[in-house]
Amino acid sequence: MPSFKLDDAEIPFEPGDTIIRAAHKAGVDIPHYCWHPGLTVAANCRMCLVEVDPPPGRPAMMLDVLEWNAEKHDYVPQKKPKLQPACQFAAADGLVVKSQSSSHVTRARAAVQELLLLNHPVDCPICDQAGECRLQDYWLEHQGTRKRMKDEPIHKPKGVVFGPTIVYDAERCIVCTRCVRFCEEVAKDPVLSVRERGNLAEITVSPGRELDHPYTLMTEYVCPVGALTATDFRFKARVWFLRSARTVCTGCATGCNSFTDFDPRTQEVYRYRPRENLGINKYWMCDEGMLDYRRIAADRQLIASVDGKPSDREQALARAAELFEGAPPESTAVVLSAEHSLEDNFALLELAKDGLKTSLVYVTGRAAGQGDDVLRDPDKNPNTNGVKKLAPQAKSFAELVKDAADGKLTHVLSLGSHTPADAAALAQVKHLVVLASHVGPLTEHAKVVLPAASWAEAEGTFINRNGLIQESERAVTPRGDSRPAFRWVHELRLALDRPPAWKKLGELRAAMQPASAGMTGARP
Ligand code: SF4
Ligand code: SF4
Ligand code: FES
Repeated sequence: MPSFKLDDAEIPFEPGDTIIRAAHKAGVDIPHYCWHPGLTVAANCRMCLVEVDPPPGRPAMMLDVLEWNAEKHDYVPQKKPKLQPACQFAAADGLVVKSQSSSHVTRARAAVQELLLLNHPVDCPICDQAGECRLQDYWLEHQGTRKRMKDEPIHKPKGVVFGPTIVYDAERCIVCTRCVRFCEEVAKDPVLSVRERGNLAEITVSPGRELDHPYTLMTEYVCPVGALTATDFRFKARVWFLRSARTVCTGCATGCNSFTDFDPRTQEVYRYRPRENLGINKYWMCDEGMLDYRRIAADRQLIASVDGKPSDREQALARAAELFEGAPPESTAVVLSAEHSLEDNFALLELAKDGLKTSLVYVTGRAAGQGDDVLRDPDKNPNTNGVKKLAPQAKSFAELVKDAADGKLTHVLSLGSHTPADAAALAQVKHLVVLASHVGPLTEHAKVVLPAASWAEAEGTFINRNGLIQESERAVTPRGDSRPAFRWVHELRLALDRPPAWKKLGELRAAMQPASAGMTGARP
């Protein structure tokens, strides 16, 4: 593989790579604002300037400059090498590039920083980007000096509402155009553009439009500074208090890789952020997915219930076991859920086969929604393929409703609650036990409801629309009395005196392996 030298490191590259892209792939950071690995090159911030040695036998391209000489107390003519933007300069075999090791580069970066901060307000104490802002980080790394300009800075509009989800602060904007390029190139809706020139330049929304496509939160996320903020997150948390779990978005069958950011002190989840996976979501997530964290707290089934009345865990478990004790296998069914992890579904399927001795298995999930050719899938369940793999014979929820209406079912144990339920038909099932994380049509009709942990409160494995098996970490502890559905199944089996062969998650996963054998996988 061809390579070039960057300071002391040898960086391999592929044809078409620029210096910054090859360095990024090798895990070496060259400071940058406007470059983003998923967007076209704009080369407008000049933060990524590097010194490139000329090929052997060629003279270096030098610039005439005037440099302040303290002894002479005057500017004196000097020469300095012409620096190159690493985001635009194509990598070439044998190239010698200086980044940290060049004093010219060090001075250029400090000068770029100073220029970008000339009119920037010192908003850091009230800015939502504080703690994850490149202006802050690079000031410390590459400038570290006070502003020399004494004049009043240029003032620009603040708090401009770009749309239902995003607010713009033009004073904080460094006009890197990442947001403009993202809307055009990824969201395929060129709704943003730059108006004015020089230090009057600012981002604007097309006349008659709002920033309202399905990827507005990503538009905010690509902003390297605090110019774009999301109404959903602004002023809610300080990022240095948050911790991140490496999770998989459960908003649809795409299975985008995400970070779930939560406050470990309160166990509250504050946001989802994309986690790079070039094979699935690249660098992106959709608004639906990024806002899906709200369901972790909304409409939750937090306590058990028996006959519609709140109950403690033990009583509910004992009642559920009582209902299923001696249930006739020919009219007993379990309902798997494409919303839930492989672990939850596998435990339930095993209970059906070994515990309840029934082969009546159905599958349910969230109703279909909108898809697109960027990321979103119309199937709003993260594990449809997982359930298919575990139980290819499982019948649809519509068939469950029909069989229930025909009086063929007397005992049903159902996982999940967001179903397109015909509640009236299910009400005819005499003994309905529901394992659900959220309230829904099934929970209203159940004899017993056992509160299940949500996806953020349990480790889980999901198989996405392309058949990729992915593990998601637990972020927070289960709310209320909820616990992972596979734990409930374990305890129900103990109460039925038909214990499974596994006790811990690792043993359950080992038992599950043959079911997911031969699949390509990814760990967080
Ligand atoms: S709003 Fe942010 S992403 Fe857009 S141009 Fe300004 S600094 Fe760049
Ligand atoms: S496309 Fe699907 S998986 Fe990806 S972020 Fe959106 S809802 Fe989540
Ligand atoms: S990253 Fe902005 S010019 Fe290269």
